[in-house]
Amino acid sequence: MRKIVIAGNWKMFKTQAESLEFLQGFIRSLDQMPEEREVILCAPFTALPSLSKNLHGSIVYLGAQNVHWEENGAYTGEIAAPMLTEIGVRYVIIGHSERRQYFGETDETVNLRLKAAQRFGLKPILCVGETKQQRDTGETEAVISSQLEKDLVDVDQENLVIAYEPIWAIGTGDTCEVNEANRVIGLIRSQLSNPNVSIQYGGSVKPDNIDQIMAQPEIDGVLVGGASLEPESFARIVNYE
Ligand code: PGA
Repeated sequence: MRKIVIAGNWKMFKTQAESLEFLQGFIRSLDQMPEEREVILCAPFTALPSLSKNLHGSIVYLGAQNVHWEENGAYTGEIAAPMLTEIGVRYVIIGHSERRQYFGETDETVNLRLKAAQRFGLKPILCVGETKQQRDTGETEAVISSQLEKDLVDVDQENLVIAYEPIWAIGTGDTCEVNEANRVIGLIRSQLSNPNVSIQYGGSVKPDNIDQIMAQPEIDGVLVGGASLEPESFARIVNYE
């Protein structure tokens, strides 16, 4: 059975105080949500400890936005998995296009981070997706297939979520057409050894397109940036119809 997984990626937004303010507004909206949906907040590192304390007993899971492959060491500016699990973090986004694009993340480092996350008890959300140029030149399938092949070497597919995020759809308001997102996610699934991996769509997911996105048979959830920052809009997304 594939689980429905809805994750908010706050990126570099929200202080600790702002995170708690969000939580106050958001938590109520979960009362009506069907139980089989998994909701995750991927917050900045500094907000995670206080979110963790305040989430106690709620059905929301916490996620980080990066993790290093070593247990500890001289890696200035990085974060190790035991530092995250200690405060109750369960998920981690790995290989987001912003990390690949701006911080030199490669398929090789993505693979190292994925394996480390799993080794230390975190569930990774692996992001893959093509640029506009790659799409326009007909390379979408090849790009994604190559990312999966390299990123997933020796990765346990029993403990994994994948997010298909076409880069041109991230933060642009330019959502990928739902049939096309469904098609690409089907292709991703055909390349996996475990058919039960949940595969999300990400890229300009909003309250007004969530119902249509979640109606697609291959799409098992969403990874939401901008629209996860306001409690009302993220509440509408997790309570999709
Ligand atoms: P967006 O971001 O929803 O703001 O497009 C999605 C993401 O980067 O995960």
